[in-house]
Amino acid sequence: MANNSEFSSKLGLIAATVGSAVGLGNVWRFPAETQAHGGAAFLLVYVACVILFGVPVMLGEFSIGRAGKSDAIDSYRRLSPGKPWWISGFLGIVCSYLILTFYMVVSGWTLEYLYQSISGELFAPIPGVEEGSNLQFADRMQEYVAGVWPPMIWTWITIGLCGAVLCMGVQKGIERASNILMPLLFLILIILCVNAMNLPKAAEGLEYFFKPDFSKITPKVCISALGQAFFSLSLGMGTLITYGSYFRKDTNLTRTAFTVSLLDMAVAILVGMIIFPGVMSFGLQGESFDGSALVFVTFPEIFNNMWCPQLWSSLFFILLAVAALTSSISIAEVSIAYFSGHFNMKRVPATCAVLLPLVLLSSLSSLSNGVLSDWTICGYTIFGACDALTANILMPLGALIMAVYLGWFAPKGLMQDQLTNGGTIRNRLAVPVMFLLKWVTPLLILVIFITSLFM
Ligand code: TRP
Repeated sequence: MANNSEFSSKLGLIAATVGSAVGLGNVWRFPAETQAHGGAAFLLVYVACVILFGVPVMLGEFSIGRAGKSDAIDSYRRLSPGKPWWISGFLGIVCSYLILTFYMVVSGWTLEYLYQSISGELFAPIPGVEEGSNLQFADRMQEYVAGVWPPMIWTWITIGLCGAVLCMGVQKGIERASNILMPLLFLILIILCVNAMNLPKAAEGLEYFFKPDFSKITPKVCISALGQAFFSLSLGMGTLITYGSYFRKDTNLTRTAFTVSLLDMAVAILVGMIIFPGVMSFGLQGESFDGSALVFVTFPEIFNNMWCPQLWSSLFFILLAVAALTSSISIAEVSIAYFSGHFNMKRVPATCAVLLPLVLLSSLSSLSNGVLSDWTICGYTIFGACDALTANILMPLGALIMAVYLGWFAPKGLMQDQLTNGGTIRNRLAVPVMFLLKWVTPLLILVIFITSLFM
């Protein structure tokens, strides 16, 4: 069924879409990937991937959504009735639901850390552990994550907060929340960045982050950079098909895609400009940012070396919570749009139908970091299995099917029509974008998908 919801203003549309893109992927995953793959070399390849592949695929998703005017599955059905392309949307919905099971848990951790930063508990010494040492924060993190009730209750609170916004609908919920939260996020980011520039070894940190050593660019670096670009721009899971269906007829898709991608990249780069000067200034280079270590261990350590740790830490965790919540909302919206469109459900029942089972699933995911860590699937905990299955298999597969569809099987003129708003605006980029989607993107995703299965 067609949906009638629309974003009400240009700014609101950008805020909501940037809200989806800017998430844990920018603040957490990006610096960890940068550190693991050679600093500036990774950054360079990442920027190229965003512009060459991210923007065209984003335009593809927007086009399917706005032309199909429905959710991730039914948009395909309406555009190509009787054909199996809706499977791409179906994979997207399954994948988004699985992502939610651990994204909500981590979002819950950020709320706990925000609470502990404001109350000062985060920086209180632990008996028997040297004050200010890495162990102080690493131990605290391990203990917290493995606990039973606190992480689970914070996960429920996160689901409740997202549910409240989602129940209010597209304009009054998602758009209004993004209009308030996204400017706040940018403001905090800039304050933290100015502060980081005043650290003693800021210049060394910036050099590591910005001065590329070209010999470090390897196939593995390229694959990781592409994966990061897709995740960070919310591609391959039907999120932007769903948001695209809320765009107005006169929205300039190309301008929107560039604005969203540049802002998303700007956030990742600003986060790098905060973390690397801190790491250099306080001698934390030897630490690994892997897993939860960066956000919940390294950042608190950096703040602990500054004056007034509580202030910086509280600002940072507000930033992280805002980023996590607006992205969680967009991931949940994929399923909610499907329920309300396909089964003709009202907004509130559709939201409940999606979020209530999630309470149980994400509780299991939370417990799998502690008491249920023995429950494993192919050697992964429940939390780890959902992460690996989505990032390594479902997301690339969904994106591959979509790229093949757009390049070869979509109705003639679909992209051209969407990129020029039915011929009313000129768009010099339409031809190169369609060329990339037809020839380069499917091949590239296929190569990466196959290589990653063997790596
Ligand atoms: N882009 C978000 C981040 O950086 C996460 C996200 C939201 C996402 N919607 C998505 C990732 C859709 C993949 C697909 O954290």
